[in-house]
Amino acid sequence: MTKKSVVLTGITTTGTPHLGNYVGAIRPAIEASMDQHVQPFYFLADYHALIKCQDPERVRESTLQVAATWLALGLDTANAVFYRQSDIPEIGELAWILSCVTAKGLMNRAHAYKAAVQANQESGEADPDKGVTMGLYNYPILMAADILLFRANRVPVGRDQIQHIEMARDVAARFNHIYGEHFVLPEAQVSEESALLCGLDGRKMSKSYDNIIPLFATEKALRKLIMKIKTNSLLPGEPKDPDGCTLFGIFRAFATADESAAVRKRYEEGIAWGEMKTFLFEYLNRHLEASRERYEALIETPGKIEQALQDGAEKARAQARPFMQALRASVGIRPLA
Ligand code: TRP
Repeated sequence: MTKKSVVLTGITTTGTPHLGNYVGAIRPAIEASMDQHVQPFYFLADYHALIKCQDPERVRESTLQVAATWLALGLDTANAVFYRQSDIPEIGELAWILSCVTAKGLMNRAHAYKAAVQANQESGEADPDKGVTMGLYNYPILMAADILLFRANRVPVGRDQIQHIEMARDVAARFNHIYGEHFVLPEAQVSEESALLCGLDGRKMSKSYDNIIPLFATEKALRKLIMKIKTNSLLPGEPKDPDGCTLFGIFRAFATADESAAVRKRYEEGIAWGEMKTFLFEYLNRHLEASRERYEALIETPGKIEQALQDGAEKARAQARPFMQALRASVGIRPLA
């Protein structure tokens, strides 16, 4: 048997999963989890959440929502290892060891840190590091530990994360050079589709723009949000351009090629915005109904979710524990007799 390729990705638990997350990250990851040639590791990055969010209730609620979402959508937990970062103490241990082979200068170049410094400079702040925690600064090292501990070959991420995967490779190569070939060098896998969905205001759908449509909004809320999506002022009967239209972009991400072609035609014929919104709502609602029901049932039974995460943590630690022991030994930390 050839060794399965390890695909690993983390989801920071600070928000509520939205349509953009679903199309860009969750759906492809769940599809990949059904491929028996792949060994997926998917985890809730709750220690990463603390970097951006110091609201304990938000972190807890987001963890529940993200876990319920992935399970409701049918993640194959028999094949995929699905766990919570904070249940794997080896990740934190490895992060420390990696930080001891990571040049400070490498971390100075991290985008998130540089953006914070730049914002301080632009606002005339005397201290360039104002508001920068060590958590933000060390973020790429924690992420490297997440990835390297499970010898991931491929890491599906958004464009903004490519640099972090490159940093993980640099850190791994440095460690391997000093202590021997322990780590696999991971590769970023960027999906071209991931930036495509627009939000209520027409900008990219993102928590930071406050323009999201939650994936499992109630039927009523979903209708309301779709009605709020910004369109132009073309009148019913006037031909409209589907490309660049937020409504069509969302529809296309769910529809078959034939369905998209049919709606394209309706645009040419001048479909009214109100009619298109109602159509999109009904289409999405039908598409999401069954998984929304499973989601709501899971949210009501957090014990089931916790159990699934504990089962996942056990599988993850079965690999992490012996590997971490070998890594500790390789740096000279081992029993004396
Ligand atoms: N930092 C990633 C993000 O914000 C989430 C993440 C944490 C991650 N650890 C990871 C992604 C390891 C891939 C691999 O999107």
